[in-house]
Amino acid sequence: MRIGIYGGSFDPVHNGHIAMIKSALKSGFVDCVITIPSVRNNFKLYKNKLPPPYRYYMMKETVEGLGLKNVFVSDIEYGIEGVSYTAVVLKELTSDSYIRDFLISNDIKRKKAEEHHEFFWIMGSDTLGTFETWYKPGEILNHAALLAAVRPGDDTDVEKAADSIRKNLGGKVEIFRLDGIECSSSGIIDSGDFSEVPEPAVKFIKKHALYTENTMLEGVSDEARKQFFESAVWMYKYLGGKRLLHTLNVGYLSAHLADVFGCDKDKALIAGALHDCAKELPLEQQSELAQKYSGDLFTEKKLLHSPAGATFAREQFGIEDKEILDAICYHTTGRGNMSILEKIVYLADKIEPSRDYTDLTPIRAAAEKDLDSAMRMTASSVKDKFVSQGRDIHPMTVLMMKDLNL
Ligand SMILES: [Fe+2]
Ligand SMILES: [Fe+2]
Repeated sequence: MRIGIYGGSFDPVHNGHIAMIKSALKSGFVDCVITIPSVRNNFKLYKNKLPPPYRYYMMKETVEGLGLKNVFVSDIEYGIEGVSYTAVVLKELTSDSYIRDFLISNDIKRKKAEEHHEFFWIMGSDTLGTFETWYKPGEILNHAALLAAVRPGDDTDVEKAADSIRKNLGGKVEIFRLDGIECSSSGIIDSGDFSEVPEPAVKFIKKHALYTENTMLEGVSDEARKQFFESAVWMYKYLGGKRLLHTLNVGYLSAHLADVFGCDKDKALIAGALHDCAKELPLEQQSELAQKYSGDLFTEKKLLHSPAGATFAREQFGIEDKEILDAICYHTTGRGNMSILEKIVYLADKIEPSRDYTDLTPIRAAAEKDLDSAMRMTASSVKDKFVSQGRDIHPMTVLMMKDLNL
């Protein structure tokens, strides 16, 4: 097959990206396109608006929702340590075993997936001019030809840049015609006009309340921002998409609530983001990790992931801060004498934007003004649920309820 590869931040994906993909397919140079939402782009390291998993799942839902044929989304950069340079990514992606398994997992017949493939790195004509300054451009060209998009009228400069690359690096450069509108992700965010964002991506953005004030991370330190992005990448291999996005949403909302109630925003962001990190580990492992943090305090299956998460975040992700670890440990049950941070994570877990198990409007409204009253509303609905199901309420939850006068 002739495979086009299209990397980018897609923060958010917009109609310009979609036009690029469609035009590349239409050009006849490639049979399919693999898009790669970046994980650690050297130009934008931790500078993207959203951590990588949001951009990956947004792209997946967009490709699926638009019914784009022969377009795939790759998570290859999650497996690469450090900066995901194009040369490094291409070396891995074009290896026989990776590309075969990737194509098969995208419903391409084994015989076809095992064929010899030709690779094309798709790029905008604006980046062709700087290509020779990229990290190891010669190596990029060893793995793939360049396939540069040109808009009508732009031809001269592009031909010049292409010739220079051919002459200086000996690579193959092809040029295709780009039909479609011109837009930029940063322009969309700055203007707040999402009309050039495809419908499935708009739905995704609304569901998770992205690109709002709460996700701007204003006032968060660079260190915490980096830790938040890295935690998202780290958890990618342990959590399915839905749960991963939920736990990250809790990070964003906790950071916002920290602003409202005067608590450390960095800690709230990290505690919230990591609160469910252990939830999809095998139960046996959860039980072992839970034991290490809190002994026999929690034995019920559903509760294990909270103390287990505290140990997991400490041992595997390097979180040493006791306040953060406690907020993770008590996010399911609560406890007596809760800190503001613990209350914030407990609450954010129940009401983050993608939660829709019941009408959360009144609790969400309360959470903007009065932490204890929002806690009381949440805890009392938990109590009602337990009573109606005839389940015992955990002793730690009983203590929390007592503090809330329930
Ligand atoms: Fe949880
Ligand atoms: Fe949760």
